[in-house]
Amino acid sequence: MKKVLLIAGARPNFMKIAPIYAEMRRRGDEFAPMIVHTGQHYGAMSDSFFSDLGIPQPDFNLGVGSGSHAVQTAGMMTEFEPVVIREKPDWVVVVGDVNSTIACALVAVKLGVKVAHVEAGLRSRDRAMPEEINRILTDSISDLLLTTSQDADVNLAAEGIPAEKIRFVGNVMIDSLLEHLKVAATSNIRETVGVVEGEYAVCTLHRPSNVDNETTFTGIIDAICDVSQQLPIIFPVHPRTRAKIDEFGLTHKIASSKIRLIEPLGYIDFMRLYSGARLVLTDSGGLQEETTVLGIPCLTLRENTERPVTITMGTNVLVGTDPKKIRITANEALSDRAKPEAKVPPLWDGKAAGRICDVLSEPPAVAGG
Ligand code: UD1
Repeated sequence: MKKVLLIAGARPNFMKIAPIYAEMRRRGDEFAPMIVHTGQHYGAMSDSFFSDLGIPQPDFNLGVGSGSHAVQTAGMMTEFEPVVIREKPDWVVVVGDVNSTIACALVAVKLGVKVAHVEAGLRSRDRAMPEEINRILTDSISDLLLTTSQDADVNLAAEGIPAEKIRFVGNVMIDSLLEHLKVAATSNIRETVGVVEGEYAVCTLHRPSNVDNETTFTGIIDAICDVSQQLPIIFPVHPRTRAKIDEFGLTHKIASSKIRLIEPLGYIDFMRLYSGARLVLTDSGGLQEETTVLGIPCLTLRENTERPVTITMGTNVLVGTDPKKIRITANEALSDRAKPEAKVPPLWDGKAAGRICDVLSEPPAVAGG
C-alpha cells in the first residue's frame, strides 16, 4: 500500500486533488491517500469547495493563511516538515503553481520523499509572475512530472528534464468539471443573480499584474464598464481584487455600469454561472481550460498564457490589458452569434486521475526512481 500526501492550499488546487483522492480510495488497498490543506486560502475561498467536490475534511490543516510570499512559503514549510517526518509517505503529490505547491515540494524532496507534480511543464515565460517561478522550481525538483498537454512535455525536455520523469496524463481538472456538470445544472445561481443563459458575461480578475497596478486595473475596469453596456457582466470578486477596487476608488464607476460585483462563488455555482455565459473575460488559468472544454468564448486579459493549447485548439483569445484592445475584441466576440468551434485537447477526457494513479503505482524504478 502506498501512502500519499495530497497537497492543496489555494482555490485552484481543490478541484485537482478531488478526483485523485477519489480514484485512490476506489483502488482500495493500493493507496492510502491523506489530504494536507496548507491554509493558503480559507473561508469563502476554501470551505465550500470541500463540500461541493465531496472531499473529506483534510487530515492535516497547516493553517498558514495570508502573508508576503516569504512569510507564507516559509510558514508552510515549517508546518509541513513535521508532518512528512511523522507520516513517512511514499509520495507527496503537489498540483498547480501556487505557493503551497513549491513549499511542500521543497520540504518533501529535502527529506528524501518522492514528489509528483500534477500540471507540470506549463510555462508563461513571464518571470514577473509568481506562479512561473513556482512552476520552474517545482518541476526542477520533482521526481515525476505529470503533464496536461504535449507542449508541457516539450518545455520540460527543453529544460533538460529526462524523458523518463515526464508522463502525459491529461487534465485532471477536467475530470472534476465533467463529473460535476450534472449537479451544477441544479444550481439556481443564474436566477439568484437575475441572468438568463447566453445573455450575460462573466468576469474574474485577480492577477497581481492586473489588479495591483492602479493604471492597469483602472484601464481594464473602464473597458469592461463599456462592454457592460452591451450585456450584464457578473463579476465574482476575489479578496485581493476587492481590496484594490476600494483602494483605487473604483466602486462608484462600477456601480454606475452594468457590472455586478458578487462574492466569490463555490465550485458548483460558479460552474453553473460560466457555463451559461455568452462570453468570459478573465485572467484565471483554470477558466481558460474550462471554457475551452465547454466551448464558451474566453478573452484572457493577460499578455501571455502558460496554456497555449486553449488558444490553438480551444475558445481562448489572448487579449492583453490594453483597454482599447479589450473593447475591440469583446465587440468582435459579441457580434459573432455563432458559437466558436472548439476541439477538446487530447486526454482532457475525465480519466486523468486514473492515469495518474496508474503511474504512481508503477514500481519505483519506473515512476521517477
Ligand atoms: C493565489 C495564487 C494564484 C492563484 C490564486 C487563485 C500564489 C503565488 N498565487 O493567489 O496562483 O491563481 O491564488 O485564487 O500562490 N485572501 C483572503 N482570503 C483568502 C485568501 C486570500 O482574504 O482565503 C486575501 C489576503 O488579503 C491575501 C490576498 O487575498 O493577502 C492574496 O492571497 P494569496 O493566497 O497570497 O494569493 P492569491 O492572489 O489568492
